[in-house]
Amino acid sequence: MQSPFKGRPSRRAVMQGGIAAGIGLALGSLAARGADSGSALPLITKKIPSSGEKLPVIGLGTNQYSVTAAEELAARKEVLQNMPQLGGKLVDTARGYGEAEVVIGNLVKEIGNRDKLFIATKTPMRGDLSNPAAVVEESFRRLQTEQLDLLQIHNFNGLNELFPVLKEWKQAKKIRYIGVTTSTDDQYPQMKEALQKLPLDFIQVDHSIENRGAGDEILPMALDKGVAVLINVPLGGRRGSLLTRVGDKKLPDWAAEIDVTSWAQFLLKYNISHPAVTAVIPGTTKLSHLHDNQRAGRGRLPDAAMRKRMEAYWLTI
Ligand SMILES: NC(=O)c1ccc[n+]([C@@H]2O[C@H](COP(=O)([O-])OP(=O)(O)OC[C@H]3O[C@@H](n4cnc5c(N)ncnc54)[C@H](OP(=O)(O)O)[C@@H]3O)[C@@H](O)[C@H]2O)c1
Repeated sequence: MQSPFKGRPSRRAVMQGGIAAGIGLALGSLAARGADSGSALPLITKKIPSSGEKLPVIGLGTNQYSVTAAEELAARKEVLQNMPQLGGKLVDTARGYGEAEVVIGNLVKEIGNRDKLFIATKTPMRGDLSNPAAVVEESFRRLQTEQLDLLQIHNFNGLNELFPVLKEWKQAKKIRYIGVTTSTDDQYPQMKEALQKLPLDFIQVDHSIENRGAGDEILPMALDKGVAVLINVPLGGRRGSLLTRVGDKKLPDWAAEIDVTSWAQFLLKYNISHPAVTAVIPGTTKLSHLHDNQRAGRGRLPDAAMRKRMEAYWLTI
């Protein structure tokens, strides 16, 4: 079901004040500095409300990481290797992305940078959940990790069976944070119920300048409940449809006022400047796009007035 709010400005999101609240600005490391990434600019981090731990605001989506060809593996390895050097930390994957967990587990082991990454995965979207502990255990094996930073229940599948196990594993410090995800507005009622009833650290939801339905109730509720928010499909989904739509249209001159040099950065900065949003996870398989996206995690963020200006400009695209 398509939300009647899709594509419309969210009243509540626009009304949220204090966009800079909770945002920590810290200087990026010298090692991370380079002309491409604009990394002389300060790195933007936001706090995970349940712990106060700071996360860099631009993560990585990996639903295109289930590959076997040497060339494709090499490209993904480059991305994972450069993430921390460019200031990024959060890698989002899922059991549902074919062999992506296995690919990431192998590549991170080869690179040796597990300690520099915040790895988030998800429980299965289908299949047998009659042994929930075995289901969770499988992610550790595939990702070759002793501890998961975040385990999310994918699109609410098996919520009732899996949630108690996730809580136990969090208590045992095998999982650091627990979350639930969706990317469709027909699951927003379930997301609101979960935010009301469950002790969540994170939610993950779809949101972009073109798709603002989550801004009406979900994002304000998460802010109110002190739950961290990850944003998926920020560029319009696997085919990056918002960027296709932009084509070769020039950025407005005022984009420089928020340190934006590309349309991908324009879209990502719009998302991360929402006060409820902790981080955004654009999917990429290319080092050049990683550079571009990570640059959105640096410099100045749009304030409420600038967000309105961006929304108005987007209507002309
Ligand atoms: N329900 C859920 O839990 C759920 C649902 C959907 C997605 N997710 C998560 O969210 C992540 C993000 O969603 P998504 O990957 O589907 O869509 P997305 O992030 O909106 O867009 C990804 C597309 O944009 C392209 N792209 C990325 N950076 C670019 C740049 N700087 N310039 C030009 N093109 C660029 C990518 O191609 P290249 O590879 O060529 O860069 C890819 O085609 C997923 O990977 C996944 O981890 C979760």
